[in-house]
Amino acid sequence: MLTLVNQSKNIIMLRGKMTEHKTAALILAAGWGTRLKSDIPKVLHSVAHRPLISWVLSTIDQFNPDKKVVVVRESMSMVKDFVDPCPVVYQTQGEGTGAAALAAREQLQGFNGTVFIMFGDTPFISPQTLQNLIEERCSDRKPSVVLVGFYPEDAGEYGRIVCAADGTVEKIVEYKDATPDQRHIPLCNSGVMAVDGQWLYKLLDQVDNNNAKGELYLTDIVHIARQEGLVCSHIEAHEDELMGINSRIDLANAEFEAQAKLRAAALAMGVTMIDPDTVYLSFDTKLGRDIVIGPHVVIKPGVSIGDNVTIESFSHLEGAEISDGATIGPFARLRPGAKIGINSKIGNFVEVKNSEFAEGAKASHLAYIGDSFVGKKSNIGAGTITCNYDGHKKSKTVIGEGVFIGSNSSLVAPVTIGDGAIVGAGSTVTKDVEPGALCVARMRQLEKKGWAEKFHTNSDKEKNVTKSNVSVIDSQKLHKTES
Ligand code: UD1
Ligand code: CA
Repeated sequence: MLTLVNQSKNIIMLRGKMTEHKTAALILAAGWGTRLKSDIPKVLHSVAHRPLISWVLSTIDQFNPDKKVVVVRESMSMVKDFVDPCPVVYQTQGEGTGAAALAAREQLQGFNGTVFIMFGDTPFISPQTLQNLIEERCSDRKPSVVLVGFYPEDAGEYGRIVCAADGTVEKIVEYKDATPDQRHIPLCNSGVMAVDGQWLYKLLDQVDNNNAKGELYLTDIVHIARQEGLVCSHIEAHEDELMGINSRIDLANAEFEAQAKLRAAALAMGVTMIDPDTVYLSFDTKLGRDIVIGPHVVIKPGVSIGDNVTIESFSHLEGAEISDGATIGPFARLRPGAKIGINSKIGNFVEVKNSEFAEGAKASHLAYIGDSFVGKKSNIGAGTITCNYDGHKKSKTVIGEGVFIGSNSSLVAPVTIGDGAIVGAGSTVTKDVEPGALCVARMRQLEKKGWAEKFHTNSDKEKNVTKSNVSVIDSQKLHKTES
Protein backbone atom coordinates (compact mmCIF):
# COMPACT_ATOMS: atom_id res chain seq x y z
CA MET A 1 0.00 0.00 0.00
CA LEU A 2 1.35 3.40 -0.95
CA THR A 3 0.90 6.23 1.44
CA LEU A 4 1.18 9.87 0.61
CA VAL A 5 4.21 11.77 1.71
CA ASN A 6 4.61 12.71 5.32
CA GLN A 7 4.25 16.42 6.08
CA SER A 8 7.81 16.79 7.37
CA LYS A 9 10.35 17.50 4.67
CA ASN A 10 12.50 14.75 3.16
CA ILE A 11 10.69 11.93 4.92
CA ILE A 12 8.54 9.88 2.61
CA MET A 13 6.83 6.57 2.95
CA LEU A 14 8.43 4.03 0.63
CA ARG A 15 7.18 0.46 0.64
CA GLY A 16 5.78 0.93 4.10
CA LYS A 17 9.00 2.42 5.51
CA MET A 18 9.70 6.01 6.42
CA THR A 19 12.65 6.90 4.23
CA GLU A 20 14.63 10.09 3.75
CA HIS A 21 14.42 11.29 0.16
CA LYS A 22 14.70 14.90 -0.91
CA THR A 23 12.41 16.28 -3.58
CA ALA A 24 12.38 19.47 -5.63
CA ALA A 25 9.78 20.75 -8.06
CA LEU A 26 10.61 22.47 -11.33
CA ILE A 27 7.50 23.89 -12.93
CA LEU A 28 7.79 25.03 -16.53
CA ALA A 29 5.48 27.90 -17.29
CA ALA A 30 7.38 30.06 -19.78
CA GLY A 31 5.64 28.81 -22.93
CA TRP A 32 3.92 31.60 -24.83
CA GLY A 33 0.79 29.53 -25.25
CA THR A 34 0.44 30.87 -28.80
CA ARG A 35 -2.21 28.28 -29.64
CA LEU A 36 -4.53 29.90 -27.07
CA LYS A 37 -4.37 33.21 -28.99
CA SER A 38 -4.48 35.25 -25.80
CA ASP A 39 -2.87 38.28 -24.16
CA ILE A 40 -2.92 36.42 -20.85
CA PRO A 41 -0.10 33.90 -20.20
CA LYS A 42 -1.36 30.36 -20.72
CA VAL A 43 -0.85 29.21 -17.13
CA LEU A 44 -3.13 31.97 -15.84
CA HIS A 45 -6.08 30.68 -17.82
CA SER A 46 -8.51 29.00 -15.45
CA VAL A 47 -10.28 25.71 -15.13
CA ALA A 48 -13.14 25.58 -12.60
CA HIS A 49 -12.15 29.17 -11.73
CA ARG A 50 -8.63 28.24 -10.73
CA PRO A 51 -5.62 29.22 -12.87
CA LEU A 52 -3.74 26.26 -14.36
CA ILE A 53 -0.57 27.07 -12.42
CA SER A 54 -2.49 26.98 -9.11
CA TRP A 55 -3.70 23.45 -9.80
CA VAL A 56 -0.09 22.34 -10.26
CA LEU A 57 1.26 24.28 -7.27
CA SER A 58 -1.42 22.99 -4.92
CA THR A 59 -0.61 19.39 -5.92
CA ILE A 60 3.11 19.86 -5.48
CA ASP A 61 2.57 21.65 -2.17
CA GLN A 62 0.87 18.55 -0.78
CA PHE A 63 4.24 16.94 -1.34
CA ASN A 64 6.09 19.60 0.64
CA PRO A 65 9.21 19.65 -1.59
CA ASP A 66 12.54 20.97 -0.32
CA LYS A 67 12.80 23.33 -3.27
CA LYS A 68 10.32 24.75 -5.70
CA VAL A 69 10.90 26.96 -8.70
CA VAL A 70 8.64 28.21 -11.48
CA VAL A 71 10.13 29.14 -14.86
CA VAL A 72 8.52 32.12 -16.62
CA ARG A 73 9.57 34.86 -19.06
CA GLU A 74 10.60 38.31 -17.93
CA SER A 75 7.57 39.67 -19.75
CA MET A 76 5.25 37.49 -17.63
CA SER A 77 5.14 39.65 -14.51
CA MET A 78 1.50 38.60 -14.10
CA VAL A 79 2.59 35.02 -13.48
CA LYS A 80 5.43 36.06 -11.16
CA ASP A 81 3.04 38.19 -9.09
CA PHE A 82 0.46 35.46 -9.08
CA VAL A 83 2.74 32.69 -7.76
CA ASP A 84 4.47 34.97 -5.24
CA PRO A 85 6.10 34.02 -2.79
CA CYS A 86 6.99 30.91 -4.81
CA PRO A 87 10.50 31.41 -6.30
CA VAL A 88 10.58 32.28 -10.00
CA VAL A 89 13.38 32.17 -12.58
CA TYR A 90 13.34 33.66 -16.06
CA GLN A 91 13.91 31.77 -19.26
CA THR A 92 16.03 34.25 -21.16
CA GLN A 93 17.93 31.99 -23.54
CA GLY A 94 16.68 29.52 -26.09
CA GLU A 95 13.29 28.08 -26.82
CA GLY A 96 11.63 24.88 -25.72
CA THR A 97 11.12 22.86 -22.57
CA GLY A 98 14.84 22.05 -22.38
CA ALA A 99 15.73 25.75 -22.40
CA ALA A 100 13.12 26.32 -19.68
CA ALA A 101 14.62 23.63 -17.45
CA LEU A 102 18.12 25.04 -18.03
CA ALA A 103 16.94 28.40 -16.66
CA ALA A 104 16.73 26.91 -13.16
CA ARG A 105 20.33 25.67 -13.12
CA GLU A 106 21.39 27.95 -10.27
CA GLN A 107 18.59 26.67 -8.05
CA LEU A 108 18.74 22.96 -8.83
CA GLN A 109 22.11 21.90 -10.26
CA GLY A 110 23.50 18.98 -8.27
CA PHE A 111 20.32 18.65 -6.15
CA ASN A 112 20.72 15.61 -3.97
CA GLY A 113 17.35 13.98 -4.52
CA THR A 114 14.57 13.75 -7.10
CA VAL A 115 13.53 16.71 -9.22
CA PHE A 116 9.90 16.55 -10.34
CA ILE A 117 9.54 18.33 -13.64
CA MET A 118 5.98 19.49 -14.14
CA PHE A 119 4.27 21.55 -16.81
CA GLY A 120 2.22 24.56 -15.87
CA ASP A 121 -0.22 23.55 -18.61
CA THR A 122 -0.91 20.06 -17.22
CA PRO A 123 -3.12 20.92 -14.26
CA PHE A 124 -4.68 17.68 -13.03
CA ILE A 125 -1.66 15.60 -12.11
CA SER A 126 -2.43 13.87 -8.81
CA PRO A 127 -0.23 13.65 -5.70
CA GLN A 128 -0.56 9.86 -5.96
CA THR A 129 1.09 9.92 -9.40
CA LEU A 130 3.99 11.94 -7.98
CA GLN A 131 4.25 9.40 -5.20
CA ASN A 132 4.32 6.60 -7.77
CA LEU A 133 7.16 8.40 -9.57
CA ILE A 134 9.22 8.43 -6.38
CA GLU A 135 8.44 4.79 -5.72
CA GLU A 136 9.70 3.92 -9.20
CA ARG A 137 12.81 6.11 -8.79
CA CYS A 138 13.64 4.17 -5.63
CA SER A 139 12.89 0.75 -7.15
CA ASP A 140 15.61 -1.84 -7.47
CA ARG A 141 16.61 -0.88 -11.01
CA LYS A 142 17.18 2.72 -9.77
CA PRO A 143 16.14 4.62 -12.90
CA SER A 144 17.65 8.09 -13.20
CA VAL A 145 14.71 9.35 -15.25
CA VAL A 146 11.12 8.22 -14.73
CA LEU A 147 8.41 9.45 -17.07
CA VAL A 148 4.66 9.51 -16.61
CA GLY A 149 3.20 7.90 -19.71
CA PHE A 150 -0.43 7.61 -20.68
CA TYR A 151 -2.71 6.24 -23.37
CA PRO A 152 -4.93 9.10 -24.49
CA GLU A 153 -8.05 8.39 -26.50
CA ASP A 154 -6.69 10.72 -29.16
CA ALA A 155 -2.88 10.70 -29.05
CA GLY A 156 -2.81 13.78 -31.30
CA GLU A 157 0.53 15.59 -31.21
CA TYR A 158 1.83 14.31 -27.89
CA GLY A 159 5.41 13.04 -27.82
CA ARG A 160 5.62 9.24 -28.06
CA ILE A 161 7.49 7.03 -25.59
CA VAL A 162 9.68 4.44 -27.31
CA CYS A 163 10.31 1.44 -25.04
CA ALA A 164 13.15 -1.05 -25.22
CA ALA A 165 12.51 -4.80 -25.27
CA ASP A 166 13.16 -5.01 -21.49
CA GLY A 167 10.37 -2.51 -20.81
CA THR A 168 12.69 0.39 -19.93
CA VAL A 169 12.43 3.59 -21.95
CA GLU A 170 14.72 4.16 -24.90
CA LYS A 171 13.68 7.64 -25.95
CA ILE A 172 10.88 10.12 -26.47
CA VAL A 173 10.14 11.25 -30.01
CA GLU A 174 8.27 14.47 -30.46
CA TYR A 175 5.32 14.21 -32.83
CA LYS A 176 6.83 16.59 -35.38
CA ASP A 177 10.02 14.51 -35.51
CA ALA A 178 8.35 11.08 -35.41
CA THR A 179 8.28 8.62 -38.29
CA PRO A 180 4.82 7.40 -39.40
CA ASP A 181 5.46 4.16 -37.48
CA GLN A 182 6.42 6.03 -34.31
CA ARG A 183 3.27 8.14 -34.61
CA HIS A 184 1.33 4.90 -34.26
CA ILE A 185 2.79 4.30 -30.78
CA PRO A 186 -0.14 4.72 -28.39
CA LEU A 187 2.00 5.41 -25.25
CA CYS A 188 2.37 9.18 -24.91
CA ASN A 189 4.60 11.42 -22.85
CA SER A 190 2.71 13.53 -20.33
CA GLY A 191 5.70 15.80 -19.79
CA VAL A 192 5.75 15.07 -16.06
CA MET A 193 8.92 13.32 -14.97
CA ALA A 194 11.15 12.58 -12.01
CA VAL A 195 14.87 13.00 -12.59
CA ASP A 196 17.91 12.34 -10.44
CA GLY A 197 18.98 15.84 -9.38
CA GLN A 198 22.67 14.88 -9.61
CA TRP A 199 22.25 14.13 -13.31
CA LEU A 200 19.64 16.60 -14.53
CA TYR A 201 21.97 19.37 -15.69
CA LYS A 202 24.67 16.99 -16.94
CA LEU A 203 22.00 15.61 -19.29
CA LEU A 204 20.43 18.96 -20.20
CA ASP A 205 23.83 20.37 -21.16
CA GLN A 206 23.99 17.81 -23.97
CA VAL A 207 20.61 18.67 -25.50
CA ASP A 208 20.73 20.44 -28.87
CA ASN A 209 18.13 22.05 -31.11
CA ASN A 210 18.69 19.85 -34.09
CA ASN A 211 15.02 18.92 -34.54
CA ALA A 212 11.82 19.81 -36.37
CA LYS A 213 11.00 22.75 -34.10
CA GLY A 214 14.58 24.00 -33.72
CA GLU A 215 14.04 24.01 -29.95
CA LEU A 216 15.78 22.45 -26.97
CA TYR A 217 13.59 19.48 -26.10
CA LEU A 218 13.63 18.44 -22.43
CA THR A 219 12.49 15.06 -23.69
CA ASP A 220 15.91 14.51 -25.31
CA ILE A 221 17.43 13.88 -21.87
CA VAL A 222 16.01 10.36 -22.08
CA HIS A 223 18.14 9.06 -24.91
CA ILE A 224 21.11 11.06 -23.62
CA ALA A 225 20.71 9.32 -20.25
CA ARG A 226 20.69 5.95 -22.05
CA GLN A 227 23.94 6.90 -23.80
CA GLU A 228 25.39 7.67 -20.37
CA GLY A 229 24.46 4.15 -19.32
CA LEU A 230 21.62 5.26 -17.05
CA VAL A 231 18.27 3.52 -16.77
CA CYS A 232 15.09 5.34 -17.84
CA SER A 233 11.65 3.97 -17.10
CA HIS A 234 8.02 5.03 -16.99
CA ILE A 235 4.92 4.68 -14.90
CA GLU A 236 1.40 5.02 -16.27
CA ALA A 237 -1.46 7.22 -15.20
CA HIS A 238 -4.89 7.99 -16.57
CA GLU A 239 -5.47 10.50 -19.33
CA ASP A 240 -7.83 12.48 -17.08
CA GLU A 241 -4.94 13.72 -14.99
CA LEU A 242 -2.44 14.24 -17.77
CA MET A 243 -4.24 16.26 -20.39
CA GLY A 244 -2.09 19.17 -21.52
CA ILE A 245 -3.76 22.44 -22.36
CA ASN A 246 -2.60 24.07 -25.56
CA SER A 247 -5.74 25.51 -27.16
CA ARG A 248 -9.15 26.90 -26.22
CA ILE A 249 -10.59 23.52 -27.17
CA ASP A 250 -8.27 21.83 -24.67
CA LEU A 251 -9.32 24.41 -22.09
CA ALA A 252 -12.98 23.67 -22.70
CA ASN A 253 -12.32 19.92 -22.50
CA ALA A 254 -10.44 20.40 -19.24
CA GLU A 255 -13.34 22.42 -17.85
CA PHE A 256 -15.69 19.61 -18.87
CA GLU A 257 -13.53 17.07 -17.02
CA ALA A 258 -13.11 19.26 -13.95
CA GLN A 259 -16.85 19.95 -13.72
CA ALA A 260 -17.63 16.25 -14.08
CA LYS A 261 -15.27 15.49 -11.17
CA LEU A 262 -16.62 18.29 -8.99
CA ARG A 263 -20.22 17.19 -9.61
CA ALA A 264 -19.40 13.57 -8.86
CA ALA A 265 -17.70 14.62 -5.61
CA ALA A 266 -20.71 16.76 -4.65
CA LEU A 267 -23.15 13.91 -5.33
CA ALA A 268 -20.97 11.57 -3.31
CA MET A 269 -21.07 14.04 -0.39
CA GLY A 270 -24.86 13.92 -0.22
CA VAL A 271 -25.90 16.76 -2.51
CA THR A 272 -28.94 16.23 -4.74
CA MET A 273 -28.70 17.71 -8.21
CA ILE A 274 -31.76 17.48 -10.40
CA ASP A 275 -29.69 17.79 -13.56
CA PRO A 276 -26.00 17.65 -12.59
CA ASP A 277 -24.70 18.42 -16.08
CA THR A 278 -26.17 21.91 -15.88
CA VAL A 279 -24.68 22.82 -12.50
CA TYR A 280 -21.32 24.59 -12.59
CA LEU A 281 -19.15 24.41 -9.50
CA SER A 282 -15.89 26.04 -8.54
CA PHE A 283 -12.72 24.27 -7.38
CA ASP A 284 -13.28 25.66 -3.86
CA THR A 285 -17.07 25.20 -3.46
CA LYS A 286 -17.86 24.03 0.07
CA LEU A 287 -20.99 21.91 0.39
CA GLY A 288 -22.87 20.51 3.36
CA ARG A 289 -25.35 17.61 3.39
CA ASP A 290 -28.85 17.33 2.03
CA ILE A 291 -28.45 20.29 -0.26
CA VAL A 292 -30.73 20.34 -3.29
CA ILE A 293 -29.45 22.17 -6.35
CA GLY A 294 -31.87 22.76 -9.22
CA PRO A 295 -30.94 22.84 -12.90
CA HIS A 296 -28.81 25.64 -14.38
CA VAL A 297 -27.10 26.92 -11.26
CA VAL A 298 -23.70 28.62 -11.54
CA ILE A 299 -21.42 28.63 -8.51
CA LYS A 300 -18.31 30.77 -8.78
CA PRO A 301 -15.38 30.96 -6.34
CA GLY A 302 -15.72 31.49 -2.59
CA VAL A 303 -19.12 29.89 -2.01
CA SER A 304 -19.95 27.79 1.02
CA ILE A 305 -23.36 26.17 1.41
CA GLY A 306 -24.59 24.70 4.70
CA ASP A 307 -26.84 21.70 5.33
CA ASN A 308 -30.42 21.45 4.07
CA VAL A 309 -30.09 24.41 1.72
CA THR A 310 -32.09 24.56 -1.50
CA ILE A 311 -30.68 26.43 -4.47
CA GLU A 312 -33.38 26.79 -7.09
CA SER A 313 -32.77 26.99 -10.85
CA PHE A 314 -30.88 29.74 -12.62
CA SER A 315 -29.23 31.12 -9.51
CA HIS A 316 -25.75 32.64 -9.74
CA LEU A 317 -23.59 32.58 -6.61
CA GLU A 318 -20.17 34.04 -5.94
CA GLY A 319 -18.28 34.72 -2.69
CA ALA A 320 -21.38 33.87 -0.67
CA GLU A 321 -21.84 32.06 2.62
CA ILE A 322 -25.19 30.33 2.87
CA SER A 323 -26.19 28.91 6.25
CA ASP A 324 -28.23 25.81 7.07
CA GLY A 325 -31.82 25.63 5.90
CA ALA A 326 -31.73 28.71 3.64
CA THR A 327 -33.50 28.76 0.27
CA ILE A 328 -32.09 30.64 -2.67
CA GLY A 329 -33.72 31.43 -6.02
CA PRO A 330 -34.93 30.67 -8.59
CA PHE A 331 -33.07 33.43 -10.46
CA ALA A 332 -31.24 34.76 -7.41
CA ARG A 333 -27.87 36.47 -7.61
CA LEU A 334 -25.57 36.35 -4.60
CA ARG A 335 -22.49 38.46 -5.04
CA PRO A 336 -19.29 38.57 -2.95
CA GLY A 337 -19.87 39.27 0.73
CA ALA A 338 -23.42 37.89 0.77
CA LYS A 339 -24.02 36.09 4.08
CA ILE A 340 -27.35 34.35 4.17
CA GLY A 341 -28.41 33.26 7.64
CA ILE A 342 -30.04 30.10 8.93
CA ASN A 343 -33.47 29.50 7.34
CA SER A 344 -33.28 32.78 5.42
CA LYS A 345 -34.91 33.12 2.04
CA ILE A 346 -33.62 34.93 -1.02
CA GLY A 347 -36.21 34.66 -3.75
CA ASN A 348 -36.48 35.32 -7.47
CA PHE A 349 -34.72 38.29 -9.03
CA VAL A 350 -33.12 39.30 -5.76
CA GLU A 351 -29.51 40.51 -5.88
CA VAL A 352 -27.50 40.56 -2.65
CA LYS A 353 -24.02 42.09 -2.43
CA ASN A 354 -21.83 42.51 0.65
CA SER A 355 -24.82 42.12 2.93
CA GLU A 356 -25.82 39.91 5.80
CA PHE A 357 -29.25 38.39 6.28
CA ALA A 358 -29.64 37.22 9.89
CA GLU A 359 -31.60 34.08 10.79
CA GLY A 360 -35.00 33.83 9.13
CA ALA A 361 -34.73 37.14 7.23
CA LYS A 362 -36.40 37.18 3.81
CA ALA A 363 -36.28 39.02 0.52
CA SER A 364 -38.63 36.94 -1.58
CA HIS A 365 -38.91 38.91 -4.81
CA LEU A 366 -37.23 41.56 -6.97
CA ALA A 367 -34.86 43.43 -4.70
CA TYR A 368 -31.33 44.85 -4.55
CA ILE A 369 -29.71 44.61 -1.14
CA GLY A 370 -26.15 46.00 -1.11
CA ASP A 371 -23.83 46.91 1.79
CA SER A 372 -26.57 46.10 4.26
CA PHE A 373 -27.44 44.21 7.39
CA VAL A 374 -30.91 42.69 7.63
CA GLY A 375 -31.89 41.62 11.16
CA LYS A 376 -33.56 38.40 12.27
CA LYS A 377 -36.94 37.60 10.73
CA SER A 378 -37.14 40.90 8.85
CA ASN A 379 -39.10 40.90 5.63
CA ILE A 380 -38.00 42.87 2.59
CA GLY A 381 -40.90 43.55 0.21
CA ALA A 382 -40.82 43.18 -3.57
CA GLY A 383 -39.06 45.98 -5.38
CA THR A 384 -37.02 47.18 -2.41
CA ILE A 385 -33.76 48.86 -3.31
CA THR A 386 -30.98 49.81 -0.91
CA CYS A 387 -29.54 52.94 -2.53
CA ASN A 388 -25.98 52.28 -1.39
CA TYR A 389 -24.08 54.42 -3.90
CA ASP A 390 -24.23 58.17 -4.37
CA GLY A 391 -21.91 58.18 -7.36
CA HIS A 392 -18.82 58.63 -5.15
CA LYS A 393 -19.00 56.37 -2.13
CA LYS A 394 -20.89 53.36 -0.82
CA SER A 395 -22.92 53.60 2.40
CA LYS A 396 -24.53 51.09 4.68
CA THR A 397 -28.15 50.25 5.36
CA VAL A 398 -28.95 48.67 8.71
CA ILE A 399 -32.31 46.99 9.13
CA GLY A 400 -33.11 45.77 12.63
CA GLU A 401 -34.90 42.64 13.79
CA GLY A 402 -38.48 41.92 12.79
CA VAL A 403 -38.67 44.87 10.42
CA PHE A 404 -41.21 44.98 7.58
CA ILE A 405 -40.15 46.91 4.50
CA GLY A 406 -43.16 47.53 2.24
CA SER A 407 -42.91 46.89 -1.49
CA ASN A 408 -41.15 49.26 -3.82
CA SER A 409 -39.28 51.12 -1.11
CA SER A 410 -35.97 52.90 -1.61
CA LEU A 411 -33.73 52.94 1.44
CA VAL A 412 -31.23 55.75 0.86
CA ALA A 413 -28.02 54.84 2.70
CA PRO A 414 -26.61 55.56 5.19
CA VAL A 415 -29.82 54.74 6.97
CA THR A 416 -30.95 52.62 9.90
CA ILE A 417 -34.39 51.13 10.37
CA GLY A 418 -34.95 50.24 14.01
CA ASP A 419 -36.16 46.87 15.33
CA GLY A 420 -39.80 46.09 14.66
CA ALA A 421 -40.38 49.16 12.45
CA ILE A 422 -42.69 49.12 9.43
CA VAL A 423 -41.92 51.03 6.26
CA GLY A 424 -44.97 51.71 4.10
CA ALA A 425 -44.93 50.56 0.49
CA GLY A 426 -43.42 52.98 -2.00
CA SER A 427 -41.45 54.90 0.61
CA THR A 428 -38.21 56.69 -0.12
CA VAL A 429 -36.52 56.55 3.25
CA THR A 430 -33.76 59.10 3.73
CA LYS A 431 -33.72 59.40 7.54
CA ASP A 432 -33.29 56.81 10.28
CA VAL A 433 -36.51 55.19 11.49
CA GLU A 434 -36.96 54.55 15.21
CA PRO A 435 -37.64 51.05 16.56
CA GLY A 436 -41.32 50.19 16.50
CA ALA A 437 -42.24 53.21 14.30
CA LEU A 438 -44.29 53.34 11.12
CA CYS A 439 -42.52 55.24 8.39
CA VAL A 440 -44.46 56.36 5.33
CA ALA A 441 -42.24 58.47 3.12
CA ARG A 442 -44.29 59.08 0.01
CA MET A 443 -46.69 61.75 -1.17
CA ARG A 444 -50.05 61.73 0.61
CA GLN A 445 -52.77 60.35 -1.68
CA LEU A 446 -54.82 63.06 -3.38
CA GLU A 447 -58.32 62.52 -4.77
CA LYS A 448 -60.35 65.08 -6.79
CA LYS A 449 -63.90 63.96 -7.27
CA GLY A 450 -65.14 64.00 -10.92
CA TRP A 451 -61.84 65.38 -12.20
CA ALA A 452 -61.09 62.47 -14.51
CA GLU A 453 -64.56 62.38 -15.97
CA LYS A 454 -64.37 66.07 -16.93
CA PHE A 455 -60.92 65.61 -18.33
CA HIS A 456 -62.08 62.80 -20.62
CA THR A 457 -65.11 64.74 -21.87
CA ASN A 458 -63.02 67.82 -22.66
CA SER A 459 -60.39 65.77 -24.40
CA ASP A 460 -63.01 64.07 -26.59
CA LYS A 461 -64.41 67.46 -27.64
CA GLU A 462 -60.96 68.74 -28.55
CA LYS A 463 -60.36 65.65 -30.64
CA ASN A 464 -63.55 66.23 -32.67
CA VAL A 465 -62.61 69.88 -33.36
CA THR A 466 -59.18 68.84 -34.54
CA LYS A 467 -60.62 66.09 -36.77
CA SER A 468 -63.00 68.55 -38.57
CA ASN A 469 -60.05 70.99 -39.03
CA VAL A 470 -58.06 68.25 -40.63
CA SER A 471 -60.84 67.43 -43.08
CA VAL A 472 -61.14 71.13 -44.05
CA ILE A 473 -57.43 71.33 -44.72
CA ASP A 474 -57.48 68.08 -46.63
CA SER A 475 -60.35 69.12 -48.86
CA GLN A 476 -58.59 72.46 -49.57
CA LYS A 477 -55.48 70.57 -50.60
CA LEU A 478 -57.59 68.36 -52.82
CA HIS A 479 -59.18 71.33 -54.64
CA LYS A 480 -55.75 72.81 -55.24
CA THR A 481 -54.41 69.70 -56.89
CA GLU A 482 -57.50 69.27 -59.02
CA SER A 483 -57.34 72.85 -60.35
C1 UD1 B 1 5.41 18.70 -24.43
C2 UD1 B 1 6.39 17.56 -24.63
C3 UD1 B 1 5.65 16.38 -25.27
C4 UD1 B 1 4.48 15.97 -24.39
C5 UD1 B 1 3.57 17.16 -24.12
C6 UD1 B 1 2.56 16.79 -23.06
C7 UD1 B 1 8.60 18.51 -25.04
C8 UD1 B 1 9.63 18.85 -26.04
N1 UD1 B 1 7.47 17.97 -25.48
O1 UD1 B 1 4.98 19.15 -25.72
O2 UD1 B 1 6.54 15.26 -25.39
O3 UD1 B 1 3.76 14.93 -25.03
O4 UD1 B 1 4.32 18.28 -23.62
O5 UD1 B 1 1.66 17.82 -22.80
O6 UD1 B 1 8.86 18.68 -23.85
N2 UD1 B 1 7.55 25.79 -21.78
C9 UD1 B 1 8.47 26.68 -21.28
N3 UD1 B 1 9.36 27.26 -22.14
C10 UD1 B 1 9.36 27.00 -23.48
C11 UD1 B 1 8.40 26.09 -23.98
C12 UD1 B 1 7.51 25.50 -23.10
O7 UD1 B 1 8.48 26.95 -20.07
O8 UD1 B 1 10.18 27.57 -24.21
C13 UD1 B 1 6.56 25.20 -20.85
C14 UD1 B 1 5.14 25.59 -21.19
O9 UD1 B 1 4.75 26.73 -20.44
C15 UD1 B 1 4.34 24.38 -20.79
C16 UD1 B 1 5.33 23.24 -20.95
O10 UD1 B 1 6.61 23.79 -20.95
O11 UD1 B 1 3.89 24.44 -19.47
C17 UD1 B 1 5.07 22.41 -22.20
O12 UD1 B 1 5.28 23.22 -23.33
P1 UD1 B 1 4.47 23.01 -24.68
O13 UD1 B 1 5.03 23.94 -25.68
O14 UD1 B 1 3.03 23.07 -24.40
O15 UD1 B 1 4.92 21.53 -25.05
P2 UD1 B 1 4.13 20.51 -25.96
O16 UD1 B 1 4.29 20.89 -27.38
O17 UD1 B 1 2.74 20.34 -25.43
CA1 CA C 1 1.57 21.42 -23.85
